[in-house]
Amino acid sequence: MKIAIIGSGYVGLVTGACFAELGNQVICADNDQGKIETLKKGSLPLYEPGLAELIARNLKNKRLQFSSNIKDAVRPSEIIFITVGTPALDNGEADLTGIENVARAIAVNMDGYRLIIEKSTVPVETGDWVRQIIATYIKDKTKFDVASNPEFLREGSAISDFMNPDRIVIGVESKRARDLLTELYKPFKVPLVVTNIKSAELIKHASNAFLAAKISFINAVSRICDTVGADVEEVAKGMGLDKRIGLSFLKAGIGYGGSCFPKDLDAFVNISEKLGYNFNLLKSVRRVNEEQLSFMLKKIKDSLRIIKDKTIGVLGLAFKSNTDDIRNSQAIGLIRMLESEGARIKAYDPQAMNKARDVLSRITFCADAYSAARSSDCLLIATEWDEFKELDFTRVKKLLKRPLIIDGRNLYEPERMGKLGFTYISVGRKSVS
Ligand code: UDX
Repeated sequence: MKIAIIGSGYVGLVTGACFAELGNQVICADNDQGKIETLKKGSLPLYEPGLAELIARNLKNKRLQFSSNIKDAVRPSEIIFITVGTPALDNGEADLTGIENVARAIAVNMDGYRLIIEKSTVPVETGDWVRQIIATYIKDKTKFDVASNPEFLREGSAISDFMNPDRIVIGVESKRARDLLTELYKPFKVPLVVTNIKSAELIKHASNAFLAAKISFINAVSRICDTVGADVEEVAKGMGLDKRIGLSFLKAGIGYGGSCFPKDLDAFVNISEKLGYNFNLLKSVRRVNEEQLSFMLKKIKDSLRIIKDKTIGVLGLAFKSNTDDIRNSQAIGLIRMLESEGARIKAYDPQAMNKARDVLSRITFCADAYSAARSSDCLLIATEWDEFKELDFTRVKKLLKRPLIIDGRNLYEPERMGKLGFTYISVGRKSVS
């Protein structure tokens, strides 16, 4: 099938490359000319495992193309995905300027029937608005449909999430749109949930909000575990093995971050309020997440006593492992808190240091985990990278000024760390020394 992807950011690139891999003819467009030139040369403006190879392969076999002119994408394609960003405004509302501009540009460049699909996360009822914009700017009475097809990709595993989804959600309001999307997703042998557009829009916001709620729930439980000496990992396992609850997204830590959960939660609270519902439950989810950073800061203060002029080695800057994304990273939030308390920070992250350099000007960036540990007063684990799970702890212990590890991701077994001679403080588990 012939597909246009408007917006070559994270979601657009993964979606475009995967549809090309499945045999479709895809053109990804973006108004950022520099980005398109980079992509044409086969380089990537972001890090995602496997994506560079997928793009290179499909560029070579000519199933994937890039253009900075939206017309080049709209003209040959029957199916058009909108994958531009929907960042948060100061009041939490989703900024739909990008969606509006793209909808208008699609309308003026259409020369026959098109199916226009929202893939970006948008508040409920955006589909109606997109339809109105297109109807307003379209040149003649050209037919078109609007549909919603939310993505559920996680950074770091986006390609496998795309290729092996749990379900595919399509919100449609005509047979033609339904048939086209059913055909497009034919290679996937998973449940196809067909709904109206508003339900599909809500499925996305509700799913992300629910996952964020699971994380805040276990983080709240971790506070009780900390107080009474229970183990949150055991509690999560005991709960999660109940199939109604499930084990995933029950990992306690420094809280959730990233480009989706914080923004989507804010947008969901905001649209609910506009529609007359005060979503207090989600406000609490957000508050627990914010408090998790103060909780970590307190742990650091309790163990170092005075933070001013102490050197803290931080492992991890990305909002989670396997990505270079630092948007709303709790690691960065915690570093900022430590800096304002007068700490000196030495940090290492396998992928996110380039991006972090733009936002953290006072910290020392290290070549590896051991350099971050060298002469530091403690080591703080802020992102759950696999390489941090396999450190040479004898070496780490020798390098640190004192053998203190504060683990915001519960990466290690407390008993083992105690035996290795560390004072080991984690989240919702007994400290050992
Ligand atoms: C999320 C959704 O999972 C995805 O479906 C949606 O399309 C986009 O938003 P992503 O932001 O890439 O994906 O990351 P995810 O893996 O969901 O993690 C989000 C945050 O929660 C990270 O900061 C992660 O460290 C944290 N997290 C996740 C926990 O603290 N505990 C958990 O158990 C799971």
